[in-house]
Amino acid sequence: MIKIGVITASDKGARGERVDLSGPAIKEMVASIGGEVIAYAIVPDDQILLQAKLKEYADELRVDLIFTTGGTGFSPRDVTPEATLAVVDRLAPGIAEAMRLASLKITPKAMLSRATSGIRGKTLIVNLPGSPKAVKECLEVILTALPHGIEILR
Ligand code: MTE
Repeated sequence: MIKIGVITASDKGARGERVDLSGPAIKEMVASIGGEVIAYAIVPDDQILLQAKLKEYADELRVDLIFTTGGTGFSPRDVTPEATLAVVDRLAPGIAEAMRLASLKITPKAMLSRATSGIRGKTLIVNLPGSPKAVKECLEVILTALPHGIEILR
């Protein structure tokens, strides 16, 4: 079983003004690789709060994999990549590169995602875009490669 944490970065979601559809979409799709979402949180677009949640999931819950969704665009409030870069020990750029490469075939706006991916301890962290459609498109590209990476990390 692959232990997964999902963090939705959304000011509106955290205030209860928007229903999060991306978190549940991730939950559904990871079943195909034997993944189980054991922790899920909606966090405002705040770098310090996001870093704290990433550290909690990696260091205390010791999940194998964290997916973030949202906060990767150009808005001044989009700080998920910065929060991720602040907590990872090593980069794993190929995952974010693969998502952008495949997504560019669907929409040129894919180049506007600043998503990153990296490793903290034994936890792989992957930024996904915010919309449920984009989440599905990106997960379809990367999911099958992740179990091998996670196995090597353990
Ligand atoms: N990737 C895919 N596969 N499909 C999409 O529709 N939308 C893009 C991009 N990546 C998109 C995508 C858009 S419009 C933006 S602004 C960026 O992701 C950042 O999204 P975020 O700010 O919600 O994280």
